[in-house]
Amino acid sequence: MGKLAVGLAVGVAVATSGIAAVMVGKRVSSRRKWRKVVRVLEELEQVCSTSVERLRQVVDAMAVEMHAGLASEGGSKLKMLLTFIHNLPTGDEQGTYYALVLGGTNFRVVRVRLGEEKSSILKRDVDRKPIPEHLMTSTSEELFDFIASSLKEFVEREENVVEVSQVKGRELGFTFSFPVKQLSVSSGTLIKWTKGFSIPDMVGKDVSACLQQAISRRGLDMRVAALVNDTVGTLALGHYHDEDTVVAVIIGTGTNACYLERADAIIKCQGLLTTSGGMVVNMEWGNFWSSHLPRTSYDIDLDGESPNSNDQGFEKMISGMYLGDIVRRVILRMSLESDIFGPVSSKLSEPFILRTPLMSAMHEDNSPDLREVANILSDVLGICEVPLKVRKLVVNVCDVVTRRAARLAAAGIVGILKKIGRDGSGGITSGRSRGGTSIKMRRTVVAVEGGLYTSYALFREYLNEAVAEILGDDISPYVTLKVMEDGSGIGAALLAASHSAPSVDTVQLL
Ligand code: BGC
Repeated sequence: MGKLAVGLAVGVAVATSGIAAVMVGKRVSSRRKWRKVVRVLEELEQVCSTSVERLRQVVDAMAVEMHAGLASEGGSKLKMLLTFIHNLPTGDEQGTYYALVLGGTNFRVVRVRLGEEKSSILKRDVDRKPIPEHLMTSTSEELFDFIASSLKEFVEREENVVEVSQVKGRELGFTFSFPVKQLSVSSGTLIKWTKGFSIPDMVGKDVSACLQQAISRRGLDMRVAALVNDTVGTLALGHYHDEDTVVAVIIGTGTNACYLERADAIIKCQGLLTTSGGMVVNMEWGNFWSSHLPRTSYDIDLDGESPNSNDQGFEKMISGMYLGDIVRRVILRMSLESDIFGPVSSKLSEPFILRTPLMSAMHEDNSPDLREVANILSDVLGICEVPLKVRKLVVNVCDVVTRRAARLAAAGIVGILKKIGRDGSGGITSGRSRGGTSIKMRRTVVAVEGGLYTSYALFREYLNEAVAEILGDDISPYVTLKVMEDGSGIGAALLAASHSAPSVDTVQLL
């Protein structure tokens, strides 16, 4: 072999081994990066773990906090607000009633026509509109003028009249899905805003009066006969169809629950007289807190950067307003720790860019190549062309976050059942040992509304499964979760119906 040939051969060998070394190096480094993101996922899974033992601790904590909130004003982070509703619709109501629902992503106007037969709703009309974002942080007058105008347009359309002022005596149920200190069944003052609304001049004002004034400004003859939380509307519709419905839960943009409580258990209101011996209590469970809640660094950051830091801690782990943003934070961390998502996309730092419906679409993507995941990553988060295994990783993140949320909501529901003695344990106040004798169980229905539960199948499955798991095989057949479509609006119209006669509002405080 000539000198030149030898030189060439050596050169090729060196180059080949160099390329091989680079390739091996790349593989090692990409394996290391992959391991890093897997560690982020594993850590998330570990901190978010909701074993049944941990859920039972949350159940107990919820029941204990409910007692504390009923014992004294400010006794717990759970406000346990009085509603002055001590009789739920019976099914005997008749006539045509309106309702307005304000508090979620959409604003709704509702009209129901009730028939003569028991529990018959002859016609229901629902109009939905997104709330213009600027109104969520404007002034109370602007917000209520918008609502009243939408109501007037709806009435004109539904009643087919040219001059709405000609028709007299309409009754309205107003579903206002924020914490309100009720003064009566039809009035109350706003305690604070949640879910991204912030209109400071409204806090402390009478919500019904604001609406009533705006309605009058539009020349509409309509009386706010009931001011209710969305949970209470949902309970009303549930009870209208099925008297065993004693609890209602909303899991949508925000989350909350209400239930029927014995008047004598509402210790902070000694001497409360009700005709039925009970009253619906709006728990405002979004603000529930317990050291047993599995909290991650992502939750802490989300809370710290929110306008209502240290508030609504349970809601921030569960509801639709926040789940997508928790997932975004995890993906951002993964992206910062490794380049498996390519260069860090600036979109990943934009709060709330990943809305929960998009996150659920990724979670429920059944296509073999996870096409929807790829599309959302690229269209919404600016992350393009990620391989299948990275898409799978994203689905896993969604799964962990949603599973935790659904299981915590399930624990909250069982906490309420425990408080009212419907979980088979005899309630935490009885203190009496049942000596092995069986407890007589009653059928209990929990009415549920909110997009997270109704439209996110995996969330619903996880929640139902966890309720059954916590209650166990003997008790869970007695508990039914029932979806109440448009419950918060239709229920408010029903409450307007049952409170339209002046004699009905008979709750007195001694
Ligand atoms: C509000 C509750 C409401 C829940 C569901 C929470 O943010 O504080 O009043 O019931 O959202 O809409």
